[in-house]
Amino acid sequence: MTQRTLALASDHGGIELKTLLAADLSGLGWRGLDLGTDGPASVDYPDFALKLARALKAGEADLGLLICGSGIGISIAANRHAHIRAALVHDGYGARMCRLHNDANVLVLGGRTIGPEVARDCLRVFLETPFEGGRHARRVAMLSEYGEK
Ligand code: RB5
Repeated sequence: MTQRTLALASDHGGIELKTLLAADLSGLGWRGLDLGTDGPASVDYPDFALKLARALKAGEADLGLLICGSGIGISIAANRHAHIRAALVHDGYGARMCRLHNDANVLVLGGRTIGPEVARDCLRVFLETPFEGGRHARRVAMLSEYGEK
């Protein structure tokens, strides 16, 4: 089986958590594609949401992880891109439901809002949970359809 790829990006408010989670990926059977930021300097989260959206569109990664301080700005930015379904999650329940029901292709976390172990749990659950399909596929299709209206 080919190894799947997770694209990761954050602003300065998420870099610590991004670094911590990137170290978990090989143990979870995933490859990481780190799109920055690379240091503590202040940067603009919409730029990193855009980089990740482009990587997913180009097929360079299967799923994405975005982190900013609260998770709010970068999730708003990511969801401006029509092919992105980004879910801001705070616990394992949210991580599971966003895959099962929403087919979320981007997990969003707040680097300043959740602790490292909860974040690790969110990532593991997100990567291991499949989309349930069925009636949820119809609703997810409606998201794209309504986005075009
Ligand atoms: C940066 O200070 C902070 O505003 C950003 O990381 C994020 O929380 C925005 O939503």
